[in-house]
Amino acid sequence: MSEIKIQSGIIMSGLGIAHIAHDLAIPSPDAGQLLIKTRAIALNTPDWMALDKLGRPGAGMGFDFAGEVVEIGDRCENWTVGDRIAGFIHACHAVNYANGSFREYLLADADLVMRIPENLPFADASTLGMGISTAAQALYQWLPLPLPTSDATPSGHTVLIYGGSTATGSIAIQLAKLSGLRVITTCSEQHFSWLRSLGADEVINYRNPDAIEKIRTLVHKDGLYSVLDCIADTKTAAFCYECFSVPQESSEQAPSLVYAGLMVPPDVPEQPESLPASAKVKSVWNIVYTCFGRRFTIINEDLGIKRTWEASKEDKAFMIAFYRRVEEFLQNKLLKPMPIEIRKGGLEGVLEGVDDVRQGTVRGKKLVYEL
Ligand SMILES: NC(=O)c1ccc[n+]([C@@H]2O[C@H](COP(=O)([O-])OP(=O)(O)OC[C@H]3O[C@@H](n4cnc5c(N)ncnc54)[C@H](OP(=O)(O)O)[C@@H]3O)[C@@H](O)[C@H]2O)c1
Repeated sequence: MSEIKIQSGIIMSGLGIAHIAHDLAIPSPDAGQLLIKTRAIALNTPDWMALDKLGRPGAGMGFDFAGEVVEIGDRCENWTVGDRIAGFIHACHAVNYANGSFREYLLADADLVMRIPENLPFADASTLGMGISTAAQALYQWLPLPLPTSDATPSGHTVLIYGGSTATGSIAIQLAKLSGLRVITTCSEQHFSWLRSLGADEVINYRNPDAIEKIRTLVHKDGLYSVLDCIADTKTAAFCYECFSVPQESSEQAPSLVYAGLMVPPDVPEQPESLPASAKVKSVWNIVYTCFGRRFTIINEDLGIKRTWEASKEDKAFMIAFYRRVEEFLQNKLLKPMPIEIRKGGLEGVLEGVDDVRQGTVRGKKLVYEL
């Protein structure tokens, strides 16, 4: 490693603008960290959102990656040079500008990456980090539902996953099935067979005028208490709230109804009239970066955004333990990464891909670049 000191990577220049820098230092891992040779990166909606809304000049871009361990810091148990891993890192960071996966070498916390099986290509594995982490937090910390296992028995509990064809939703469907849940999901018609192949029990086209009615019929008997909204705008939140249902016999006892949205809907819907007065919908939201267990601030002076999240030992401990489950699921082929489109051009092509994701033309697949 010592002969290579400089690398290329994608850096924000300002709001909505980024460039490739060819003179970035290759850092040395601190205690508890690994230096990774990036082999593949996958694009996410948060890449362009962070660029357009936060855009801190000098901040590194890129969340998802897969690669090989090339250098190991002190106090890293059980790691060997050459180990194959996937994960995501807190990029576009207002303080730690060195972070970002769109670069040739990156640093990651040794306990917050996932080992991947030999037969899982880096390109496919690169799509997993952010989707798994976000789906895991939302399902098991925010809602919270029973943890997934490789031998789950059906519980009869239903979860509605609005936006099943999103990166987060497609993982959430699979995890929810490993939790023994019945999964109802929504997406465009073109993704029906894919989401069924992931285990979704019922797939509904959210554009159909009778979509809410169909879901209400499906949950009429046993109720619907848990919703994960992977879009979470005003319209989707209103849709999801209307789907909550409490069976007649449970209406005296106030059941806990939880709506988890991946974004904060601009308007939190009114409590639906169809619910008994004893049932109250609780709306929850978080940001997945809390899993790194560090304090962070999101700043955008132009938009007047400044919010700090305190370090959460609980969120970090949860994710470290959850990644160990995921390693087992991957080994046993119980989790499928999203379909991918590998684009040529390496880092040079990435910003065009980020723009395609921004335009909404990439649906039901991930854009991946091999480095
Ligand atoms: N809170 C957090 O920490 C966190 C973490 C990760 C992501 N996020 C946010 O979560 C959201 C989803 O991100 P993602 O990367 O998982 O998904 P994604 O890959 O960006 O999802 C794209 C899909 O979303 C569906 N979609 C888009 N707009 C829609 C709308 N108005 N109504 C219904 N469906 C719509 C479309 O599905 P069809 O093709 O089936 O129509 C589209 O193919 C983004 O806003 C992202 O910023 C939040």
